[in-house]
Amino acid sequence: MLEAIAKRFSCRSFKPDPVPDEAVQELLHAALCAPSAHNARPWHLLVVRDPEKRRALARVHKWAGFCAESPVVIVVAADPSRSDHWWIEDCSAAVENILIQATAMGLGTCWVGVRGSDERGYEREEKVREVCAIPPNIRVAALVAVGYPAVEGQPKGPAPLEAIHGETW
Ligand SMILES: Cc1cc2nc3c(=O)[nH]c(=O)nc-3n(C[C@H](O)[C@H](O)[C@H](O)COP(=O)(O)O)c2cc1C
Repeated sequence: MLEAIAKRFSCRSFKPDPVPDEAVQELLHAALCAPSAHNARPWHLLVVRDPEKRRALARVHKWAGFCAESPVVIVVAADPSRSDHWWIEDCSAAVENILIQATAMGLGTCWVGVRGSDERGYEREEKVREVCAIPPNIRVAALVAVGYPAVEGQPKGPAPLEAIHGETW
């Protein structure tokens, strides 16, 4: 497990090779095994393979361009009526499970944030809703670009140890 966690890196360049359905199913399974506050499991996951839709998702903001290149984009969304306070954390846990499982399977991924509380953020979510016909009551947390890496993995290594404290600061 630690090996997959340490090997994960944000992959922004993908081979055109398709990702088999079974592999995508495993990623979705990993997402659905994530913890969620009060076990609310508010997730909604969409699998986008259609090149036109992916090109549209790639335009959601300027750091999402590689979604046009990755053969799969998973949209991670939630129904806030099931978890008004915690849906962001619930979605983040699901995203991380996808990233780690994908790494263990030799797939590359990149987390693309689209959620936002400012006007611009809502605009991004709105674009994703439009592309994927997601109902207005559903919040979109992130896109995950998935495919076989076209680059050698460059994991950044752990953050500096200053982040770690003892029992007191
Ligand atoms: C909440 C969140 C949003 C992110 N959004 C984007 C994004 O929109 N585009 C992108 O290229 N990378 C995005 N990333 C990836 C980060 O840039 C990346 O994790 C960070 O630079 C560390 O690199 P690493 O993932 O290779 O360790 C996001 C990561 C997180 C956690």
